[in-house]
Amino acid sequence: MKVLVVGGGGRCHAIVDALRRSPKVEKIYCAPGNAGIAEMAENVPLKDTDVQGLLAFAQDKGVDLTVVGPEVALQAGIVDEFRLRGLRIFGPTAAAARIETSKEFAKELMMRHGIPTAAYRPFDDYRAAMEYVASRPLPAVLKYDGLAAGKGVVIARSMEEAEAALRDMLLDDRFGHGRVIVEDYLEGPEFSFMCFVSGSQVWPMPLAQDHKRAYDGDQGPNTGGMGAYSPVPFVSEEERRFALNEIMKKTAAALVLEGLPFTGVLYGGLMKTKEGIKVIEFNARFGDPETEVVLPRLKSDIYDIFAGVAEGRQLEEPVWDERAALGIVMASEGYPGACGKGFPIRGLDTIDDPDIRVYHMGTAASEGGVVTAGGRVLIVVGRGETLASARLKAVEGVGRVECDKLFYRKDIGAAALEF
Ligand code: AMP
Ligand code: GLY
Repeated sequence: MKVLVVGGGGRCHAIVDALRRSPKVEKIYCAPGNAGIAEMAENVPLKDTDVQGLLAFAQDKGVDLTVVGPEVALQAGIVDEFRLRGLRIFGPTAAAARIETSKEFAKELMMRHGIPTAAYRPFDDYRAAMEYVASRPLPAVLKYDGLAAGKGVVIARSMEEAEAALRDMLLDDRFGHGRVIVEDYLEGPEFSFMCFVSGSQVWPMPLAQDHKRAYDGDQGPNTGGMGAYSPVPFVSEEERRFALNEIMKKTAAALVLEGLPFTGVLYGGLMKTKEGIKVIEFNARFGDPETEVVLPRLKSDIYDIFAGVAEGRQLEEPVWDERAALGIVMASEGYPGACGKGFPIRGLDTIDDPDIRVYHMGTAASEGGVVTAGGRVLIVVGRGETLASARLKAVEGVGRVECDKLFYRKDIGAAALEF
């Protein structure tokens, strides 16, 4: 089978790596891919949002199955377009992906179906939003209703902060003209629950936890994720089952009921609060960097899962490895702000331990070898019987990467190890 993976970060590298383990897959294309992916797939110089270009490529090469990584491609309607032309594709339609691309849609769906989440109100008027914020306890959580590259959520701890954020979102149209959700602030540890979903069929993946802040001790600005690990010891089996039945399965069933059956990966960003597990957000795709620590634990053939979901077939329950995985992201100095690129990375070829995997997030090939391409550059994933031993492997791998323009967090998984 020939498979096309759309995307080019660490998440896609992990998807390509999992596909490579399938005996059914003979050829993998990745658009646009990156320097690490190029070692196991053929990179195709097409943008992830170039739906017509990707469609023409898939038809021309006789691609049997396409797998979509990033949400921008889903929002661009890639799944709708491929299906219309009779091509098999793994991912939700643009309408079903609204569970991620519109916060208000997701909130209304949860309210209609009794899925636990923070109380909220939507606003398009700045003054009305300010009045509502003033009537509730601080902090206030302000969310721009649309894709904002992870920058659309502000936790306002004072009225001044709320005013500045709402001004940005509603008066100055920083992310485009749109609406804002104001919701209650919840407290507790967060974790990610990804499930393969095909209509009302739901197959859970192991839980993972991301680390969103840039620096140790959860300090500094929010990022796309500085590391992750799986499993998550602070969530009990009972709590996991609640999240599976009362959140993930209920949401999949709700989407079917509302005529928007979901196919692909449904990602629940969940919080363990004192009042139980609640939804912070949904995504309509694999999480990044959670995928890089979850897919290495998959023992079943991922091609069968992707193809089964894409065709709406009854699937067998995927089998997962008990062993833990922990990934440390190495990012360019300055990230998530402006950062340089083109710096050489050495030492990658000295890693030949099966329990250390390096996925490329933002790299490019140059004449002298692999160089940084800005932002998050690599994720080094360690495997082990326990999270502690997985972490030692990840740390060992990080130590082998030679590039003095990268930084990383030294406390990935620390809270789980203390648990
Ligand atoms: P989101 O993009 O909705 O996941 O929000 C980004 C981050 O903001 C989340 O990972 C949380 O850490 C935080 N956050 C979002 N909503 C809330 C909330 N209602 N209460 C507390 N923190 C929140
Ligand atoms: N790790 C968070 C996300 O993928 O959105």
